[in-house]
Amino acid sequence: QPVIAIFASGNGSNFDALIAAKLPMRVGCLICDQADAPVIQRAQGHHIPVQLVNPRDYDTKAEMEKAILAGLSARHVTAILLAGYMRIIGPTLLAAFPRRIVNIHPALLPSFPGRHGIEDAYRAGVTKTGVTIHFIDAGVDTGPVIAQQAVAVLPTDTVEQLANRIHSVEHTLYPQTIRQLIEEGVL
Ligand code: GAR
Repeated sequence: QPVIAIFASGNGSNFDALIAAKLPMRVGCLICDQADAPVIQRAQGHHIPVQLVNPRDYDTKAEMEKAILAGLSARHVTAILLAGYMRIIGPTLLAAFPRRIVNIHPALLPSFPGRHGIEDAYRAGVTKTGVTIHFIDAGVDTGPVIAQQAVAVLPTDTVEQLANRIHSVEHTLYPQTIRQLIEEGVL
């Protein structure tokens, strides 16, 4: 069984969906960079260890990632799932987990990369957006796509309604895709 670290910065609804799916993996820890993120309590509720990493404690991204790596290797982590982790993964983590870091993005990449995928698609007036699961590489939201699912933007949608529709697709697509990767021996 792979030992997975989940990285998250916020609410953690995707974290919960990954746990609820009872995937054939062990969740070794949550890495979180925001002390007040709701995802921390979710992890504690599941008795999953939390490593809180405050970027202000480090002079460089490399030093912060070295601290994260120390925690990951102590827990024998073999792969990383990003679930709303709002920070770019640097060369230190990438080199330690080549093709072993998966991200979920709330748009159909390469369209609408970055931190505001849902809002950017909504404002652009597209009739279709969606969800992308992809491997992390050195670029921002550029790594190889593993799975995508389209979500319609309805003419009457508010941005909140669109976000809700995207999140519910995320909560099934992410666990389903990770299950497949584990079953195929990719993770
Ligand atoms: C999700 O919609 C995820 O796709 C997005 O953050 C949200 C986290 O929600 N990720 C990105 O935008 C990455 N650039 P959650 O905390 O409820 O899982």
